[in-house]
Amino acid sequence: MNAAIARARAQAALTDLRPQPDDIAADAIAGLSRTPKSLPSKYFYDAEGSRLFEAITRQPEYYLTRVELALMEAQMPSIAQAIGGGVHVVEFGSGSGRKTELLLEGLDAPVAYTPIEISRTALMDSVTRLGQQFADVEMLPVCADFTRPVPLPAAARRAQRTLVFFPGSTLGNFNNAEAVQLLTSMRDTMAADGCALIGIDLDKDPATIEAAYNDLAGVTAAFTLNLLARLNREIGSDFDLDGFRHHAVYARERMRIETALVSERAQAVHIGDRRFEFAEGEAMRVEVSQKYTDASFAALAAQAGLRVSHGWNDTSDCFGLRLLQPA
Ligand code: AVI
Repeated sequence: MNAAIARARAQAALTDLRPQPDDIAADAIAGLSRTPKSLPSKYFYDAEGSRLFEAITRQPEYYLTRVELALMEAQMPSIAQAIGGGVHVVEFGSGSGRKTELLLEGLDAPVAYTPIEISRTALMDSVTRLGQQFADVEMLPVCADFTRPVPLPAAARRAQRTLVFFPGSTLGNFNNAEAVQLLTSMRDTMAADGCALIGIDLDKDPATIEAAYNDLAGVTAAFTLNLLARLNREIGSDFDLDGFRHHAVYARERMRIETALVSERAQAVHIGDRRFEFAEGEAMRVEVSQKYTDASFAALAAQAGLRVSHGWNDTSDCFGLRLLQPA
């Protein structure tokens, strides 16, 4: 199928739930008013942030993407067997590119693919590309915020079951309560006979994990600091980008990378008529990246009424894929 036909089909099939645009200024003010200060990591991903994240995935220290891709390549026949044929694939977010291709290629005759994505452009680009490649899979994009419940469009051919796909250990960027809420919403989406395939980064040697979030080329530091550049541009704040440094450490007791921007000196930052004082060395939390053991992930899933039915790890138990089903 050519690109024009694929785009026209995808446009026709679009379900647009018109997600509320984010109130970045209100979220930034709320975060800076807390003790300790924080900013939401979802604001990392403007055009430059998305470009920098792609660059992170190519850094030698950032094993997550590489290992998950290799794991999917190696285990796809077994994953496909566990999931079964004729599924409607629902991806929370879009843009995981190669992983989605591997899934749609490896599954037995999937009937439809629904990415749920807040950015209309990213959504349409992904279904146009995939529509060209997978002419037999109905593309049913939904423009919506996947952190809230989303009704699924029905596929023309009846699906055997719904499979939710959430790779990349993106679940780890949500705090515990948010992760439970997200998994609960996946359970609603998949229904009683559905399942979810989730990528999780596993607890391991802290040095390996910390290196992934402190790459030598400084790409992760640039990614983190880009958040401040975005806020300055979009909400008129006056963060001095040279006045903050990237700091990512693995908190072993909480099994997560905690990333902060640390103030290099005592300084004030303004948003409109609001003024926020930073002490020298004060850390502002900007991201968490949760890592999991089998037990901690099963306990998290259980809080959302889900159980782990199958699991696959790479050969060094670095990264895992888990298949969840309603408990
Ligand atoms: C998107 N997410 C899973 C990445 C992670 O590893 O937590 C985001 C990231 N932050 C810094 N490096 C990569």
